[in-house]
Amino acid sequence: MWKGRFKEDMAQVVLGFNQSLDLDWRMAEHDIEGSLAHVRMLGAAGLLPSGETAKIEAGLRQVQREVRDGTFQPSEALEDVHMNIEDRLTALEPAGARLHTGRSRNDQVATTTRLYLRDRLLALEEALHGLLAVLLDRAEHHREVIVSGYTHLQQAQPISLGHYWMAWFEAFTRDCGRLDFALNALNECPLGAGALAGSTLPLDREMTCRLLGFDHPTRNSLDTVAQRDYMADYHHFAALFAVHVSRLAEDLIIWSTQEYGWLKLPDAFCTGSSMMPQKKNPDVLELSRGKAGQILGYMTGLLFTIKGLPMTYDRDLQEDKRGLWASLDTVESLLRVLPPLLSRTEVDEALARAGLERGFALATDVAEYLVQKGVPFREAHWKVGRLVGWCVEQGLHFRDLTLEQWKEHIPEVGEDLLKLLTLEASVARRSTYGGTGFEQVARQIKEGQVRLESLRAALKERRQRMAVRLGD
Ligand code: ARG
Repeated sequence: MWKGRFKEDMAQVVLGFNQSLDLDWRMAEHDIEGSLAHVRMLGAAGLLPSGETAKIEAGLRQVQREVRDGTFQPSEALEDVHMNIEDRLTALEPAGARLHTGRSRNDQVATTTRLYLRDRLLALEEALHGLLAVLLDRAEHHREVIVSGYTHLQQAQPISLGHYWMAWFEAFTRDCGRLDFALNALNECPLGAGALAGSTLPLDREMTCRLLGFDHPTRNSLDTVAQRDYMADYHHFAALFAVHVSRLAEDLIIWSTQEYGWLKLPDAFCTGSSMMPQKKNPDVLELSRGKAGQILGYMTGLLFTIKGLPMTYDRDLQEDKRGLWASLDTVESLLRVLPPLLSRTEVDEALARAGLERGFALATDVAEYLVQKGVPFREAHWKVGRLVGWCVEQGLHFRDLTLEQWKEHIPEVGEDLLKLLTLEASVARRSTYGGTGFEQVARQIKEGQVRLESLRAALKERRQRMAVRLGD
């Protein structure tokens, strides 16, 4: 293939080792888009004999059809997607020999990968919006369902389960922001950077940039072919998304155990045991937690690949795509399976309440009640804590205590305390902005719906801005 300076053919063992078709053939259509933009620019810049622009374009369209209908079988001897397409084009149309004018595979692969990744990330963002919509729906559905909130995995205070779902709405909305950052970061056009130093030819970088829906040509040719930060930006999104998924999965796994038991997972998303007939296992959630670990690994894989590389392009960079594809496939699979699972989670409310009533989840409410009676908080904390200790010794709960017993231990207590000691009152009264009070949760949901609408509108706008403008 490398006619010219080479005196022998590539060793057989090197062929498979060197090729990257397993990583880049999936980008064939995006590679052709990049070439179509490049050839139009070459024609407009007067770098092609008259008539050849149209011939090359027609040839590329033919290759595009062969890729789409699967009749194009790429060859490992031609190394990668770029050489395979150029080779096929030139076989169909000899003018194809001019296509690579002013271009290197180094700026080409960066362009193709950005185009391909852009499409995947736009689709991912839409799927993420689907997850946000499910969380809003669950929050609405469970707004008045009271469950325990935990710190240190110990019962802490009663909360609206809707508030819990809205917590994840916040986290995944931040993930959307990180995904947007990655999308914007990748949207610069590498074409024209050449192998590393630009070109002696009068290439119109603005034109290819515009045709491919990029925001700006990349600003430094060395950096263009050397850097993969836009991939790292995606991985950063993916890593935090995975951490969120993993923690969410962990909660649901715990809450659906026999020991907690108040969360009911849909049968269709659980599995049985080959031996124990009674089992209903949360495998989908466990797999989600497990896959999250791999996603973190893909990020560090890329960072390690890059960290010691001299400026500019080094062949190590070909490996950048391996973990990227695996990560994307995994994130996409999580976004396929989690929304339908979450949309069918239900609660055994009686069990959730029974669990709360066994503990002392209203202790903070009593301390804050005493604060309103003028007791300094630290003193109130101590008094209530001492009463809790006494109850534990006696095998009693707050709801077993008579007003007299309350007063005996805490003289500041009045009759008005008892009506505050219900789970409903406890949740409803946590009405600080962002708190679990039912009204606050309703506000979060309402604002969340508006935020999701504007995220969707922004995605639509982004799709238009990032659209390839090559016609058919
Ligand atoms: N297959 C290569 C990659 O994915 C394309 C660039 C090759 N450039 C080079 N100078 N060998 O990175």
